[in-house]
Amino acid sequence: MKSPLLVLTVVLLAACGGRVQKHAGIDARVDSVLSLMTLEEKIGQLNLPSAGQFTTGAAENSDIAKKIEQGNVGGLFNIKRVAAIREMQQIAVEKSRLGIPLIFGMDVIHGYESVFPIPLALSCSWNMELIERSARIAATEASADGINWTFSPMLDLSRDPRWGRISEGNGEDTYLSSEIAKAMVRGYQGNDLNANNTIMSCVKHYALYGAAEAGRDYNTTDMSRIRMYNEYFPPYKAAVEAGAGSIMASFNEIDGVPATANKWLLTEVLRNQWGFKGFVVSDYTGVSEMIAHGIGDLQTVSARAVQAGLDMDMVSEGLLTTLKKSVEENKITEAEITEACRRILKAKFQLGLFDDPYKYCNEDRAKTEVFTAANRAEARKAATESFVLLKNEDDILPIKKSGTIALIGPLANTRENMTGTWSVAARFSESVSLMDGLTKAVGNSAKIVYARGSNLHEDAAIEERATMFGKSLNRDKRSAEEMRNEAVRIARSADVVVVAIGEGAEMSGEASSITNLELPQTQRELLKALLQTGKPVVAVLFTGRPLVLKWENENVPVILNTWFGGSEAGDAIADVLFGAVNPSGKLTTTFPQNVGQIPLYYAHKNTGRPLSGPWFQKFQSNYIDVSNDPVYPFGFGLSYSTFMYGDVKLDKTTIKPSETLTVTVDVTNSGQYDGAEVVQLYVRDWVGSVTRPVKELRGFKKVMIKAGETKTVTFQLTKEDLSFYNYDLNWVVEPGEFSVLVGGNSRDVKEAKFTLQ
Ligand code: BGC
Repeated sequence: MKSPLLVLTVVLLAACGGRVQKHAGIDARVDSVLSLMTLEEKIGQLNLPSAGQFTTGAAENSDIAKKIEQGNVGGLFNIKRVAAIREMQQIAVEKSRLGIPLIFGMDVIHGYESVFPIPLALSCSWNMELIERSARIAATEASADGINWTFSPMLDLSRDPRWGRISEGNGEDTYLSSEIAKAMVRGYQGNDLNANNTIMSCVKHYALYGAAEAGRDYNTTDMSRIRMYNEYFPPYKAAVEAGAGSIMASFNEIDGVPATANKWLLTEVLRNQWGFKGFVVSDYTGVSEMIAHGIGDLQTVSARAVQAGLDMDMVSEGLLTTLKKSVEENKITEAEITEACRRILKAKFQLGLFDDPYKYCNEDRAKTEVFTAANRAEARKAATESFVLLKNEDDILPIKKSGTIALIGPLANTRENMTGTWSVAARFSESVSLMDGLTKAVGNSAKIVYARGSNLHEDAAIEERATMFGKSLNRDKRSAEEMRNEAVRIARSADVVVVAIGEGAEMSGEASSITNLELPQTQRELLKALLQTGKPVVAVLFTGRPLVLKWENENVPVILNTWFGGSEAGDAIADVLFGAVNPSGKLTTTFPQNVGQIPLYYAHKNTGRPLSGPWFQKFQSNYIDVSNDPVYPFGFGLSYSTFMYGDVKLDKTTIKPSETLTVTVDVTNSGQYDGAEVVQLYVRDWVGSVTRPVKELRGFKKVMIKAGETKTVTFQLTKEDLSFYNYDLNWVVEPGEFSVLVGGNSRDVKEAKFTLQ
């Protein structure tokens, strides 16, 4: 049954400019729909409820179905599967007065059912094609299953590993995160948002969410504008420039005003300065949370949010339930509501939903394009590139597929914990555990013996919080000593010990902030006992954040950080442990010596009293009890091979702002294995009108170099690479002396200098 008005709409739309190729065409078509809408229907488009998970049949009589029918819903999220989505879309299109289609969102964060490594891990690949492909595959799978909008990428720079959501971002660096922002948006949206296998990206969480005080989730942020512009804003801006269709306001306040109602942020910066043309959605109950923030009741905060530039309300229903009253009381104009509605309708036109509301509801695609062998193979490859080899004493790795391998540890035999945080569409029990991966890899050529060795955490309550949402490790009831003794017995019988330690999948991610970043005591005790056997110990680390690994770095011979590698993690780890793949990941966050050093990041300012000479120096910027050094610096990561850097060569020592500087460096693979090296280029601006960081990443290249081979790596630096926001927040380049620093991590670099005229 089609409503008469729908027919009218379709006729009008057809009259108003035909197909959806040109922007002008879309604008006219949006106008034609708006002209048919009542105030209530416009407000309805601004409403984004969570669908929960419907099964077919249950939806029809639900509250949400009624709301859709009444024109009170613009989109839905938390709904999976074509049948359920089709059913909801049908209600919108056939039963609501105007038949306006819904947009369907989901947190497709690092893959859909074929789960890729968590974003922090993917960033350690420094491979932009691979990251783009991961988003492309995620979009293909999600769109095949009915989804057309993803709440990704998360571009919140974070320098605080206490914050659990550091796992969802790209680490501490502005430049790298901006490159990843572009790759992700390209991957999701492709060249044509109107195609049925691309989805709209929603950049989040705008802004500064990763700078929450004390790393506690949802906490206040407070930052100078010059730091926002130079360090925290560029990744969001890069995503906007790459054409991201939507953006999500963050939970936190900025300058005393929650982002959700911050007009400077949502209108002045986002729209006026960056030219953003898409729509802004709140985060989950972000609108109603402003009551607790203390800036007014639901009616007040809802009107204020829309006036600030918010278009869509996720879950609160503040806009739905109060805006009409605010119009009647002259607290907001209908024109302001029309603007928000216009942006949402425009997104639906861009996705092609007005032409075919069911274009993402193709059961055949759902059956053939999701969790395919090809996609899972890509996820496995991506995982191997995201692992970071932190230590490999005596070249213990790679190990041989022979003899007896003891596989020990609380994370050795868990499929559910492999995909990490925010993998809502994952098939948890079909992920490849480390046990699965090793067993498959060795076949009959080696024997694998297993013991759990320890629980995840000595505190059962913390373990439960670290393994929520179906990821329980089914705590072992035996005493820690009993478990350890069994592990030691098994280790003694083996040639090598592989021990799977670290965090449970939900130990990082949303609302998983933590103050102690060391391995749980019970895991540390297990490590100590295994080391005492004298057998070679290979630690395979699972984590969603930088941990404090000072003791491990001093005592454990091998540490392979595998983060959370996704649905194919176990196979990917086996690929690296046995040397089928030479690890090439490099850290995108600094690993501190202790929590007290946080925030610790490479691109810091020099201060007036930098530490000169060895630690400790009285009246210089350092600590009494610990040096300023990290355990592992930004950009660090080992290979089974070694790479030697030649001198940094510049084609000129003086350049004009209009000129390009060419930087070359010879990199030699001086080891036994072919391998990839991430060559990193940093810049230091020695004197400015405002202080500048001691170094900033301005280029990187991941190059494959054969054993014994030398490659010349070339970078081009332009004015843009030397520019920054000055005190007045103008984008400037200032003459003076610069250094170019090139190396395999942010600490070990070679330097050359030039002057900008
Ligand atoms: C998170 C967002 C997410 C949203 C919808 C919120 O709790 O902060 O990142 O997109 O939920 O699931």
